[in-house]
Amino acid sequence: MTNNVKSERDSFSNRFAVVAAVAGSAIGLGNIWRFPYLAGENGGGAFLLVYLFCVVVIGIPVMTSEFIIGRSAQLNPYGAFKKLAPRKPWYLIGIMGVAAAFMILAFYTTVAGWTLEYFYQSLTGNLLGRTDIELTNMFDSFLKSSFRPILWFIVFMGLTAFIIISGVKEGIEKYTKIMMPFLFLILILMCIRSLTLPGGKAGLQFLFHPDMNKITPKVILEALGQSFFSLSIGMGTLITYGSYIRKNENLVLSAGLVSLADTSVAVLAGIAIFPAVFALGGSPASGTGLTFIVLPGIFDKMPLGSVFAFMFFLLLSIAALTSTISVLEVIVAYLVEELKMSRKKATIAASLSVSILGLLTVLSYGALSNLQVGGRNIFGILEFLTSNIMLPIGGLFIVIFIGWFYSKDLTKREFTNEGSLKGTLLPTYIFIVKFVAPVAIAIVFLYSLGIFKLS
Ligand code: PHE
Repeated sequence: MTNNVKSERDSFSNRFAVVAAVAGSAIGLGNIWRFPYLAGENGGGAFLLVYLFCVVVIGIPVMTSEFIIGRSAQLNPYGAFKKLAPRKPWYLIGIMGVAAAFMILAFYTTVAGWTLEYFYQSLTGNLLGRTDIELTNMFDSFLKSSFRPILWFIVFMGLTAFIIISGVKEGIEKYTKIMMPFLFLILILMCIRSLTLPGGKAGLQFLFHPDMNKITPKVILEALGQSFFSLSIGMGTLITYGSYIRKNENLVLSAGLVSLADTSVAVLAGIAIFPAVFALGGSPASGTGLTFIVLPGIFDKMPLGSVFAFMFFLLLSIAALTSTISVLEVIVAYLVEELKMSRKKATIAASLSVSILGLLTVLSYGALSNLQVGGRNIFGILEFLTSNIMLPIGGLFIVIFIGWFYSKDLTKREFTNEGSLKGTLLPTYIFIVKFVAPVAIAIVFLYSLGIFKLS
C-alpha cells in the first residue's frame, strides 16, 4: 500500500487511503502469527489485558506523535528530527529506527517465507488430513531443512524489493483494498469453525478470562513489545507515512481507527486459534510454530477446507508484504534522502544486506541452532531486541520529544489542523505524552530489569 509513499513528496488522497496504508503496515504477521503465539506463551487473558492497556495508553499516543512529527517535518525519521531539532541528538532515534528496520526485516521475512511454504503446501493438498503431531513434525522438519526456508526467504525479499523499486503505482493498493476485507471475512469464518469444535469453549476461557496471577514482569514486557510491533510504531515507519498525510486529516482519529482495526485482527486470530488448540489437543504454549500448526487443523475441519487454506495463506502473504514494504521503505527513504543514493541502488543495497542477516536467521532453526544467548537463537534475539527493547525505547523518546521538547504551539497546530478541529482530546494527549506514556514505558523497563539477562 505504499504506492503513494515515494521519494517525491506525495500525499494520501483521503482518510480511507491514510487508514488503509497505515493499516496495511500494521496488520500482518504480527497479528496472526505473533500475537497468538505470545498470548499462548504468556498466560492468554492476562497477556491480552496488558496488551489492550498498552495499545490504548501508549500505542495510540505514540502513533499520533509519529504522525505529528512526520507531517510537520515532511521528511524521513532521521531527517525529520534533524529538521525539528537542529544540532540536537534526537536524530539518533531515526538511526535506531533504521537499525531496527534491518533486524525486523530479517526475522519477519523468515516468517513470511514460512507463509509462502504453507501457501504452496495448501496448493498441493499436503496440509489436510493430518493429526496434530503430524502437523508439528511437518513444521519442525520444514524449519530444519534450511533449503526451502532460504528459498522462500529470497522469494519474499525479492518481492518486497521489487515493489519498493517499481513503486507499483496502482497495483498494490488496489489489491489490498479488496483483499484485506477478504482476509477479515475468512478469519471470521475460521473463528466460527473453531468455536463450534467440541471442546473449543476452553479456548475462549483461556483468552478472555485473565488470571491476574499470571501478570509477571515478563508478560508485561512482552505485551508492551507486541503492542509496538503490531502497531508498527517506535521506529519511524509512521513518521515516514505521517509525512504523506494531508494537512486536513484528523491525526488522532486516524491513529484510533488503525489501532482498532489492528487490534480486532489480532483478537480474531486469537479467537480462531485458541478454541482449536484446546479442541484438537495441542498446547497454547507451542512457540513460534503455533499458528502454522493449528490453522491447518482448522481448515481440515471446514467444508472446502483446501480452498480456504489456499486463500488464507495467500492473503496472509499479501498482508505480510504490505508490512515488509513499510519496513524496507524506512531504510530506503533514509539512504535516498540522506545518503543521496538512487532509489534502485538503495533498495538493492538494503535488501542484499538484510538477506545476509536473514540467512543467519533462517539457519538459526537449522545449522546454527546451537548459537544461542540466554536460550534464544538468532531469530529469538532479533525478535526480542527489536520488539521489546528498541521499539519501546524509540517510542519513549518520541513521546518525550513531543511532550517536553517540541513546541506546544506547533503540536497544537498539527493536532487541530491549524485550528480547524476543536482538539477536545489535546489536553489528554499532552498529559499522556508528557507523563503517562513515558512513565509507563520506564516502569515496564525497570520492572523487567531482572529478565534483561535475555533468559
Ligand atoms: N506491524 C507489522 C505486523 O504486525 C510489523 C511491523 C513492525 C511493520 C514494525 C512495520 C514496523 O505485522
